Amino acid sequence: MRSVDIFHLFIWMICLHTFCGIFATTELPTTRTTVAKKKDFNEIESKFALRTPEEVDEDNCYLVPGQEHTVNQCNFNHTSKTFVVIHGWTVTGMYESWVPKLVGALYKREPYSNVVVVDWLARSQQHYPVSAEYTKFVGQDVATFIDWIDEKFNYPVDNIHILGYSLGAHAAGVAGSLTNKKVNRITGLDPAGPTFEYAENDVTLSPDDAEFVDVLHTYTRGSPDRSIGIQKPVGHIDIYPNGGSFQPGCNIGEALRLIAEKGFADMDQLVKCSHERSIHLFIDSLLYEEKSSMAYRCNSKEAFDKGLCLSCRKNRCNTLGYKVNKVRGKRSSKMFLKTRAQMPFKVFHYQVKVHFSGQKDLTVTNQPLLISLYGTKGESENIAIALPEISTNKTFSFLVYIEQDIGELLMLKIKWEKDSYFSWSNWFTTYSYNIRKIRVKSGEFQKKLIFCSKEGNHASLIRGKNSIEFVKCNQHSFTKKKALM
Ligand SMILES: *[C@@H]1O[C@H](CO)[C@@H](O)[C@H](O)[C@H]1NC(C)=O
Ligand SMILES: *[C@@H]1O[C@H](CO)[C@@H](O)[C@H](O)[C@H]1NC(C)=O
Repeated sequence: MRSVDIFHLFIWMICLHTFCGIFATTELPTTRTTVAKKKDFNEIESKFALRTPEEVDEDNCYLVPGQEHTVNQCNFNHTSKTFVVIHGWTVTGMYESWVPKLVGALYKREPYSNVVVVDWLARSQQHYPVSAEYTKFVGQDVATFIDWIDEKFNYPVDNIHILGYSLGAHAAGVAGSLTNKKVNRITGLDPAGPTFEYAENDVTLSPDDAEFVDVLHTYTRGSPDRSIGIQKPVGHIDIYPNGGSFQPGCNIGEALRLIAEKGFADMDQLVKCSHERSIHLFIDSLLYEEKSSMAYRCNSKEAFDKGLCLSCRKNRCNTLGYKVNKVRGKRSSKMFLKTRAQMPFKVFHYQVKVHFSGQKDLTVTNQPLLISLYGTKGESENIAIALPEISTNKTFSFLVYIEQDIGELLMLKIKWEKDSYFSWSNWFTTYSYNIRKIRVKSGEFQKKLIFCSKEGNHASLIRGKNSIEFVKCNQHSFTKKKALM
């Protein structure tokens, strides 16, 4: 068998145990189950492990609601903030490998904080629909725990930040809706989709569950009832990295490379690569404070991909992850960004606007263009752009993103490659457009610049010919520049 076949077989085996089981029962909760408020301490099944920066992967000490001495025993710090981490559905009945990574990153950023890992492993390794039902009870457990430290120790719930992944995000939502006082923040990391997409607010994560709710959607592929991650916005801010449906570096080829490197050990991680990316994006925001990714509000993924949404005015942009700016709009808004395939995930976004002119009426589709950007700190060359259509005397806008900070833009080049088809008309027609100016807007630096042809009035972009160069326009020749800024 070729390795790809083996891989598919393997995926399929894993699949039997994991996501594909999600779809075994597709019926939605028919009755609206209201979640009861309080719990007796001895009814609590979830465990609350206060981990330490020294042993991020061990549950050595449990905070037990009703048993006050455990709080001192575990060295709970009453004056610093508390992170409550809630895992999702598990195949193995064990913590997944991201748990210690997230705990470690939280301690690295907030060394004095209390990082509490909620252990609901027993209930999370059932058939998916069963585990999904259990998220209510886990939420009740967490709410009872939070009310207990609030009432018994006067611990301010304003210091509490709950982070829930997949099913854990909905457990976090239920918890937040049941506590006596609202917790400060809930971060939903790709909240689970199946059975929750159309469910009522009281069993899913929603903006009412905390003072501030931020959500990352990373694996929302397919129709709403089949998507692993929930598609609808459920927070004050909902960020859809790379459009939210699928993440870079998570394709089969990449998976095979990883298997070759690391063996089959992290197999579950590969299957859930895009789903779990939500966690790694958050970890990234904790570890690379100076490289925080920006997300931009936009009505659609399509408009974002045209570069139309790189504005930061009126809170239209925000920082992804830990240092998010807590803006609570009237309705939840979708935000978008591109990322790299690995940590650090940050990229730099640019809108490029070009007016194609000419005497001859010419419309072409799906032509390969290459753009190169040159700045004070570096350059990024031959970025491939696929414009669906170009036609004469029209302006087109597109998004370009690059991995490094090249500083202030000084120059850009554009090249029109021949596409791979051979056509007789290529012999008789010269495909070309004239370009006078190129407008570039940077998302990260919120700057607009205009570039002019180096050759004077305009440059001719000819298919299959050399690239043409544009430099920052002479300040004096642009009296209108200010108005455009
Ligand atoms: C508790 O946290 C505070 C900061 O919030 C820190 O100054 C203090 O040293 C911590 N206490 C202990 C015992 O670590
Ligand atoms: C494009 O606009 C220019 C200037 O307005 C004009 O001279 C030219 O004929 C137009 N081209 C086409 C194909 O309409």
